[in-house]
Amino acid sequence: MSLASGVAARDRTEPHSLARYRSEFPIFRDKIYLNTCSLGALGDRTRRKVVEHLDLWQARGASAWYDVWWAALGDLRARYGRLVGATPAEIALAPSISVAVTAIASALDYRKRPKVVVTALDFPTVAYQWLAKRPQGVEVVVVESPDGINVPVEAIARAVDDRTALVATSHVYFTTGAIQDIAGVAAAAHAKGALCLIDAYQSVGQLPVDAHAAGVDFLTAGGLKWLLGGTGIVFLYVREALAARLEPTVAGWFSHREQFTFDPRALALHDDARRFELGTPALAAIYAQLGGLEYIEEIGVPAIRAVAGALAEDLIARAMAGGFRPKCAARAADRSAIVMLPAPDPHAAVRDLAAAGIIADARPGHVRLSPFFYNLQDDHVTALERLAPQLAH
Ligand SMILES: Cc1ncc(COP(=O)(O)O)c(C=O)c1O
Repeated sequence: MSLASGVAARDRTEPHSLARYRSEFPIFRDKIYLNTCSLGALGDRTRRKVVEHLDLWQARGASAWYDVWWAALGDLRARYGRLVGATPAEIALAPSISVAVTAIASALDYRKRPKVVVTALDFPTVAYQWLAKRPQGVEVVVVESPDGINVPVEAIARAVDDRTALVATSHVYFTTGAIQDIAGVAAAAHAKGALCLIDAYQSVGQLPVDAHAAGVDFLTAGGLKWLLGGTGIVFLYVREALAARLEPTVAGWFSHREQFTFDPRALALHDDARRFELGTPALAAIYAQLGGLEYIEEIGVPAIRAVAGALAEDLIARAMAGGFRPKCAARAADRSAIVMLPAPDPHAAVRDLAAAGIIADARPGHVRLSPFFYNLQDDHVTALERLAPQLAH
């Protein structure tokens, strides 16, 4: 299939309003980067923040902990909180989504409610916490997706009953980009007395998120992808009223409200979300995230959504006009900036793109492209032209 029919012809339109940021992401000097949903591109401000940390470490060693680094942790909790409409006290820091979810999994009482409901489209590390607890009687129920793209809230609601401790699912599904109605999921969980945890790693940064308005109990996201902070730093939102009454059964000195008493005889947990923290955070990751957030905060998530959403819609429209069938939600409002293009051999297609300096990703049966505010229409037009012979019709 050729895209030379004009389908993918480059438009002579003005670059979008956020294109000015592109020069701050050096990868674009010699590559086309379309893989933010795996790892956000490194920005100059992010690099500068990491160097700031290294300079402090070099100049001051541990003495930087007490006045600077400690404050950086508080600053990050507050800024993560603002991103999802939460207070700083509702935010715990963690090194990965897996660790954040493990802390929650450790705090639930499975005696009367042994069931945990997840979906077939979630990133599996969410389900793994509870599959690992099957020897303790935990039952994991996986709600299937009828179309392989999204999971109807009604199907989730049908799986929840008065034996359900938790519904855990995603805000944006990582292999389809479909947006879940998380307020609907929370309502379905609460209707049966269950709690609701949302893995929002693929949404926070590219979509506006309001944890209070959605009514969720727990929400986790972090630096790796759409928050431009790289590896090793995530946050866990815990609804305020819950934080004080849930007792994690994993702990570390950062969960202790007076951690500098160093008393091995008594564990007094923080009465806010920090009771779900464990050990010393990775400061380079904290600093990288503080740098990445400078972009997100300066631009604002609604403006990011407008630009990244429009790029994704343009990519979808061009792929469809070229005779391809992107796997995506039927309504644009349910789609995010993750676009899946069916390919018989996605790994070969991704290797071929890489040979042309285009960075994308493969997931089973698909090439995955994910434009962000630093991308231009030209990026995905070039990628589609190169990809066309490798895609399925
Ligand atoms: C939706 C989602 N959740 C979780 C993860 C990974 O979680 P962790 O931080 O435990 O590696 C990913 C991918 O990296 C993801 O896409």
